[in-house]
Amino acid sequence: MKPEISSIEALEILDSRGNPTIRVTVTLNNDISVSASVPSGASTGEHEAVELRDKDKKRYRGKGVLRAVANVNNVIAPELLGMNPHSQSEIDKLMIELDQTNNKGRLGANAILGVSMAVARAAAQSSHLPLYVYLGGLTNNKIPVPMMNILNGGKHADNSVDFQEFMIMPIGAPTFREALRYCAETFHSLREILQKKGYSTNVGDEGGFAPNLKSNEEACEVILDAIQAAGYKPGEDIALALDPAASSFFEGGAYDLVKSRQGKKTSSEMTSLYKTWIEKYPIVSIEDGLAENDWEGFREHTAVLGEKIQIVGDDIYVTNPKFITRGIDEKTSNAVLIKLNQIGTLTETIDAINIAQKADWGYVISHRSGETEDTFIADFAVAMNGGQIKTGSVCRSERIAKYNRLLEIESELGTRAVFENPFKRDFSRGN
Ligand code: PGA
Ligand code: ZN
Repeated sequence: MKPEISSIEALEILDSRGNPTIRVTVTLNNDISVSASVPSGASTGEHEAVELRDKDKKRYRGKGVLRAVANVNNVIAPELLGMNPHSQSEIDKLMIELDQTNNKGRLGANAILGVSMAVARAAAQSSHLPLYVYLGGLTNNKIPVPMMNILNGGKHADNSVDFQEFMIMPIGAPTFREALRYCAETFHSLREILQKKGYSTNVGDEGGFAPNLKSNEEACEVILDAIQAAGYKPGEDIALALDPAASSFFEGGAYDLVKSRQGKKTSSEMTSLYKTWIEKYPIVSIEDGLAENDWEGFREHTAVLGEKIQIVGDDIYVTNPKFITRGIDEKTSNAVLIKLNQIGTLTETIDAINIAQKADWGYVISHRSGETEDTFIADFAVAMNGGQIKTGSVCRSERIAKYNRLLEIESELGTRAVFENPFKRDFSRGN
């Protein structure tokens, strides 16, 4: 029997911040019934696809998603009934056409993505395949190296640290299972070090600590201490990665390092600052080191730093094939962050990845700061074979769910699983 979609139903649920988001359940004529839940960002890029919110102040402070739910149930579902769930690109294209805008502003990227992901999951189940095999085939066996946010500053913390995320990457681990252990042990060492220094060990939205550190440098120093205290070699076993989220401190044409009281800096001065950091600390990747509209600054940033380390664009590209293509043409970075809900369909996300792959760019599959227990991105990261995932710290179950799913996949793949340092590549090739 050819599988057909027999019903699509959306539900308003809560995300990890207690804000509403959307869960979509797709049922097939062979009784398979699966769901997918949509995440939500806080430091969103200006050009992201639209997350439709009700703006009804009487419910959830205006953040309700009942309009998006209704769009799934009343507009999208009737058009998709009877379709084969394997026709992913046809289904995604149909939803884009139904939306009639270029930013998914009518139906909502949250409504469209929920359906897109649930359809993929239904097709996988219907073929009796795990999602990562359905999406990536039998040869994509790379278990991604975590880019794990363990310390926060910027808008995510009330401290003197301007940069948003300080991450660890267990590049020297032999397997994912071991990599996760390296990270968890470092996380616990960091907690102990912060406690001894009299700092708070409360965690933020992505599970990283947000202590009241005195400077940007102190964030790197305490992480290096934690790596060593856990018995690992900084730079060899575990490297550092940064996401300054520079759009958040770009004010009136300058980068204002107001929290650390270093004053205003130009794009070139920021790049010089990062250069001194790279010489001092084992940093392998910087994401959004400059602001989302600073294409010119990014070009110089990549020319200066891009042969040594990975330069990732998040807010500047918003997973949009159009912006990624411009970035490749203009040599704006050598890697891209991939967030399904920035663009709003699975098909367009895969297009974005294909474009990055052709340019020999790195790509990192990423969560959002507002997440759910859905583990789609774990399977997706393996299927896309890029070898990197950004899915938060080793606490908070919505983050752990993804890591636990990756443990399952690695175990299922057995000796076919590949875990390797993504930075053995020559960064200059993408430039
Ligand atoms: P967001 O931020 O999910 O809150 O947008 C995370 C990031 O900047 O990578
Ligand atoms: Zn980012």
